[in-house]
Amino acid sequence: MKRILSCMQPTNNLHLGNYLGALKNWVLLQDQAADVLGEEAECLYGVVDLHAITVPQEPAELLKATREIAAAYIAGGVDPDKSTIFVQSAIPAHSELMWLLATMTQMGKLERMTQFKDKAGKNAERAGLGLFAYPVLMAADILVYKATHVPVGDDQKQHLELSREIASTFNTRFDTETLVQPEPYIMGAATRVMSLQDGSKKMSKSDPSEKSRINMTDDADTIVKKIKKAQTDPEPLPERVEGLEGRVGADNLVNIYAGLAGISKEDVLSEYGGQGWGQFKPKLAELAVTTLAPITERMAQLLEDQSEIDAVLAKGNAKANALAEVTLQEVRDIMGFWK
Ligand code: AMP
Ligand code: TRP
Repeated sequence: MKRILSCMQPTNNLHLGNYLGALKNWVLLQDQAADVLGEEAECLYGVVDLHAITVPQEPAELLKATREIAAAYIAGGVDPDKSTIFVQSAIPAHSELMWLLATMTQMGKLERMTQFKDKAGKNAERAGLGLFAYPVLMAADILVYKATHVPVGDDQKQHLELSREIASTFNTRFDTETLVQPEPYIMGAATRVMSLQDGSKKMSKSDPSEKSRINMTDDADTIVKKIKKAQTDPEPLPERVEGLEGRVGADNLVNIYAGLAGISKEDVLSEYGGQGWGQFKPKLAELAVTTLAPITERMAQLLEDQSEIDAVLAKGNAKANALAEVTLQEVRDIMGFWK
């Protein structure tokens, strides 16, 4: 039996990129692991709040965002009866394992992480130790559950590779096979959603322009307006995928349509090829609204009465704790700690 693990940080609202690029695939793996991986799998999906504090967080906002992300998982199709949904800070084993693994992780390897370089900017000397050590916590998140597959976007590929190296270093150092090297399950460029304002940039929660992204909590009006203003070019939709080359805005909208409808870009173009954007954009907006509305509604419902979400998390945390404790105890024993 395989074990699938993935996580998101509770920072800001989720956007369409998080949904099409991550959440939708988590649900697919939950429901069809046997088809996708050739074997049944158990899925764990975490809200990683300890990661969120690598940049300053307001306590009340953090707690609110933690519930919002959990609500988005459920509303997006993660079924708490099939998958385990947990909050990282409720599982102390993550932090303890991180420390143990940190002692075996070379600084030089962390210095090469592009996300650290991006986030720390020119002032790396002033960046917090947490921001620097973050990939070790991510490795602990994965290794503590002995996850076999980790579905993430390609921006996380480097961190996942480091997790594999850390597992291998531990196993070699202590001559054991305790830690499992996770197989990357990288969700490719086809699932990358770009900014509505600039098709060469990723849709991101850190983009200062609200118009660049569709938030999971946007109402129908807002979605329609944002799509109407989205970047395109004067040419109509091409008949074939090759015709999208070099047309980043056009490519992005076709890709979003394909992602929402669960069809290929070829299929989108065979239906809409030759049409102008004035015809296509309203269709795309309609599809986005009808796909997202049930999710947004369910999320709002879950957040109105927190008891359901809190019960799901309590159950998930208990399950995750039980699994994580076993690995941590094995590691402690191997390293010679007091029992
Ligand atoms: P982040 O919002 O960067 O914390 O990412 C959370 C998850 O969503 C990760 O698995 C990312 O790879 C994925 N993700 C974030 N932005 C996008 C995007 N624009 N397109 C596709 N996937 C994304
Ligand atoms: N680093 C991931 C991101 O920023 C989030 C994350 C933390 C994660 N721990 C993880 C993803 C473990 C997969 C597995 O998106």
